[in-house]
Amino acid sequence: MLAVSRQLSVKEVLQTIVTVARDLLDAEYAALGVPDDQGGFAEFVVDGITDEQWDAIGPLPRQHGLLGVMLREAKPQRIDDVREDPRFGWWPAAHPVLADFLGMPIMDGDDILGAIYLANRRSGKFTEADEGTLGVLAAHAAIALTNARLYERSRELTLLEERHRVARELHDAVAQKLFSLRLTASAAAALVQTDPQRAAARLEEVGTLAAQAAEELGEVVAELRPRELADAGLVETLRRRVNLLGRVHTTTKLHFAVTVQPRLSPSAEEAALRVVEEALHNALRHADAANIWVTLTAQGVEVRDDGVGFDPAGARGLGLASMRERARRAGGSLTVSSRPGGGTRIRMVL
Ligand SMILES: Nc1ncnc2c1ncn2[C@@H]1O[C@H](COP(=O)(O)OP(=O)(O)OP(=O)(O)O)[C@@H](O)[C@H]1O
Ligand SMILES: [Mg+2]
Repeated sequence: MLAVSRQLSVKEVLQTIVTVARDLLDAEYAALGVPDDQGGFAEFVVDGITDEQWDAIGPLPRQHGLLGVMLREAKPQRIDDVREDPRFGWWPAAHPVLADFLGMPIMDGDDILGAIYLANRRSGKFTEADEGTLGVLAAHAAIALTNARLYERSRELTLLEERHRVARELHDAVAQKLFSLRLTASAAAALVQTDPQRAAARLEEVGTLAAQAAEELGEVVAELRPRELADAGLVETLRRRVNLLGRVHTTTKLHFAVTVQPRLSPSAEEAALRVVEEALHNALRHADAANIWVTLTAQGVEVRDDGVGFDPAGARGLGLASMRERARRAGGSLTVSSRPGGGTRIRMVL
């Protein structure tokens, strides 16, 4: 029991259980098998067999003969002589000769996780009391195996969460900027013949946007918060981004205002920057608006447009989901007010 609760590896716990079982029940041989889903065993630990014997026996057993019985029927098997049991199949030439046998399934509820096998009691035959003792050990083996599975599962979930986080960061920091970059590049291409000077100005903006995307990509990879925020502060960073996008998207007028400068923690500032960027890009991409207003207030940030609007209940995208998640993590709330034909207002209270 102590072995199960100490932080040993599953294999070590199973080995301890097998050794203890053999000792307590005075058996010559003991084994514990955890099946895989291909008719073999993912784990098979033994006690009472020397390394030389183990090597001579050959490959791991399959779930055949009596070994398989407890993996299919959730019942212990107490047999006086395995060789005379109709379910007995065969064993390899170097396998020790087994006579009396006690097999116990390892159960988690209705699931059969594996089985413990004992053979050749040194004094007399296996008793009903032995069966009870082995049942207790099997219950502990079940706990060890279930814990190991839970641990694996929680590790998988952590990895999955991390993948979602990276996807969100890449979307918010980089993917949306590439949209403005593409647009500016094609505007430059259209102007090259007729107005080389304006084309040159556009290309300079292409350079700025590309540099910004590259820098933010580096920051996502290094898990840093945007350097510009730390250097210039939220208000100045937002003003610069709004100005740049205003120059790039000439058909929409961008307005930036600060009513009261909010006092925010660094992580709340980052959330505010990302939410404004995504809301702004959404407005530029989807709204077909004449005006977009970005406002910083004492409570947080707001992005409003006079464009086509949409039905928030029907919208599915990484952008809106990411804004909600950022607000939640920053301990704030996000309100999306929009309807078709009525413009859109995104407000994050922090
Ligand atoms: N300001 C807006 N005006 C009109 N429609 C909008 C506005 N903001 C969002 N939408 C609608 O809501 C949808 C979801 O937005 P969301 O940002 O989640 O995804 P997306 O912008 O389409 O893709 P991405 O995952 O790249 O952000 C958009 O596709 C668009 O139809
Ligand atoms: Mg979007």
